[in-house]
Amino acid sequence: MASHQLDLNNIPQHIAIIMDGNGRWAKKQGFGTRVKGHENGVAALRALTTTAAELGVGYLTVYAFSTENWNRPKFEVNALMRLLVNTLKNEVDTLMKNNIRLNAIGNIDSLPSDVASKLKTVMDKTAVNSHMTLTLALSYGSRDEMKQAVQKIALEVKDGLISADDINEELISKNLFTSDMPDPDLLIRTSGEQRISNYLLWQIAYAELFFTETLWPDFAKEDLYQAISSYQNRERRYGKTSEQIKEA
Ligand code: FPP
Repeated sequence: MASHQLDLNNIPQHIAIIMDGNGRWAKKQGFGTRVKGHENGVAALRALTTTAAELGVGYLTVYAFSTENWNRPKFEVNALMRLLVNTLKNEVDTLMKNNIRLNAIGNIDSLPSDVASKLKTVMDKTAVNSHMTLTLALSYGSRDEMKQAVQKIALEVKDGLISADDINEELISKNLFTSDMPDPDLLIRTSGEQRISNYLLWQIAYAELFFTETLWPDFAKEDLYQAISSYQNRERRYGKTSEQIKEA
């Protein structure tokens, strides 16, 4: 399908993606190392970022490295960190040229110092950009994020800054890593797995979910159009009836 088949007045403002299947892609292609899958995964992410920005998506948030991914073989973890630093170096000019802000969520302090510092440099440099925000979830886990939010709020209660009655959904949202962005409208997971894997659990409360068999390195702009088309054909009711939505 093509982009002109989409309703450009109903593009999801925030798309979150679980980029899965790099390892299987590398194996299918006959590569001896999963790292080839990650390298081609970066190329897919690069192309997707461009397409999303062209369509007018405001926020693109991708799961690049989970808290659980630290348990992978050391060789693969090191390769992913190296890939991240090189990608940041290579892409900063393109981000500037396309007015895209780079952001990160997760335990950034737990990344190797060269990765954390390169990330900070690129985030600072692109902070002025306003066309789209590309957020990398790195060393990210949703339960851990919520745990940290609860700890921050508990401290405020303990210090007498707020009372327990002041805790509401808005306050919880404000204490998450994603405090400065809207909730995702659409969550995409590639490679045929149909689970959320500890990703943005609070934020996807009302997101539409789209699962595709396509392995991440093969995810092309047509796949994004397909996902957005599926999103546009759904009725987001937020608990209301279909009639109420049509009357509004
Ligand atoms: C899942 O595939 C993918 C990851 C764990 C990492 C995703 C990372 C990238 C696309 C590249 C790194 C990102 C940046 C921004 C430099 P998998 O390895 O779990 O694949 P499998 O399920 O087929 O084994």
